[in-house]
This record gives sequence, structure tokens and C-alpha cells, in this order.
Amino acid sequence: MKRIVILLSGRGSNMQAIVERCAAEGWPAQVVAVVSNRPGAGGLAYAAERGIDTAVVDHRAFAEREAFDAELARTIDRWSPDLVVLAGFMRVLGAAFTRHYEGRLLNIHPSLLPAFTGLHTHRRAIEAGCKWAGATVHFVTAELDHGPIVAQAAVPVRADDDEHSLAERVLVQEHRLYPLAVRWFVEGQLLIEQGRVRHLGGAPQWMIGFGGDEPV
Ligand code: GAR
Repeated sequence: MKRIVILLSGRGSNMQAIVERCAAEGWPAQVVAVVSNRPGAGGLAYAAERGIDTAVVDHRAFAEREAFDAELARTIDRWSPDLVVLAGFMRVLGAAFTRHYEGRLLNIHPSLLPAFTGLHTHRRAIEAGCKWAGATVHFVTAELDHGPIVAQAAVPVRADDDEHSLAERVLVQEHRLYPLAVRWFVEGQLLIEQGRVRHLGGAPQWMIGFGGDEPV
């Protein structure tokens, strides 16, 4: 059984999708803990209700990022994870942290990387006139929102989209994409070669979600 620790800062809908699919599909894995940097994060309540261990490492208690990162890693390692999953975890992690979890740290970012790293991805995609937006699951490296790409989901940008409608449509795909990518990891299907990730069984590492009946 692979041990998964999930980190989040907010409502945790991606965490829920992973917990539910892990149980429903009988993955060789278990979500053993959910850790947040925010005491009030909605995802903590869901995890506790499901009997999953929870912990909080409040970033506001630390003057320096390195100290926060070190305490976060100490906390995570209490559960000896095989995989650490960032699911809406909104803190930048330093190089020592990302090195410690190299090859076993995944993130989901709400854009088609390498476009739109950082914040406000949907607004920026609309402002740039993009016709496609989406989400990316990638291994985390020291460089923010970079690292080998595991899988991507694309959704069309509609003429009447605002950042909220687009975010909603992308989130539906996130809830399909992230559990799939985590499942591949725990099943040992992912190989990183020269900075690229290959699924050993040849599964398509992309998906398209139209999220409606609009003509494309
Ligand atoms: C998701 O859309 C995720 O892609 C994004 O935060 C949201 C969290 O939602 N992550 C980032 O922006 C990371 N840079 P959730 O808490 O409901 O899973």
C-alpha cells in the first residue's frame, strides 16, 4: 500500500476527488493524512469526517520560509509518505523541501503549463485571447509551477467566459485529471526520462473536456 499525504490551503475539492476515487477504484494506496497551512481550510473538515488524520502547520507562525518548510516536512514525514500531493496548496516551497520529496511530489496547476505560471491563470488566459485553457499535473521541482508534466486537461475558452465560469469548467477536468495521475503514480506507471514523464502502459496523458454543448 502506497501512503499518500495531501497538502491543501482551502476547500480541498481535488483532495476529495482523490480520496473518493482511491476508495472507489481500490487503488493500492491510502490517503493517510491531510495537512494544511491554514487552520480554517474547508478540506480539513472533510478529511476528519472520513477518518483521515489531519494536521496544520500555520505559515503565519514562521518568520522565514525555510523554517516553515522544515516544520512542514517534519510534519508530513510523521506519516512516511510514498507520495505527497499538493492540491490547492498556496505556498511557494523552497529548494530544500522540493529536493527532499524529489520524484514523489505532485502538483496541479490551473493552466496549460508552461503558460501562465503563478496566480490568476484563468483571467490571464482570457485576457491573452487564448482559445484553450486547462490544468496540468506535474512533478514539483524548485522552480515554481515547472517540473516534468504528467498529464494535461484542456477545455475551450468560450467568448462569454469570465474567470469564474472558466475556472469552474477547468475544475471539473481537474477532478478527473488529478485522481488519474495519482493513480498512475501509485501503480508505478510513471517514468521520468530527461525531464519528460511517460506512462509505461502508453495511456494518453491528456484529456479534453468541453463541459457543455457548445459547438467547437
Ligand atoms: C485548484 O483549481 C487548483 O488547480 C489550484 O487551486 C484550486 C484548489 O481548489 N491550485 C493552484 O492555483 C496552485 N498554484 P481545491 O481546493 O478545491 O482543490
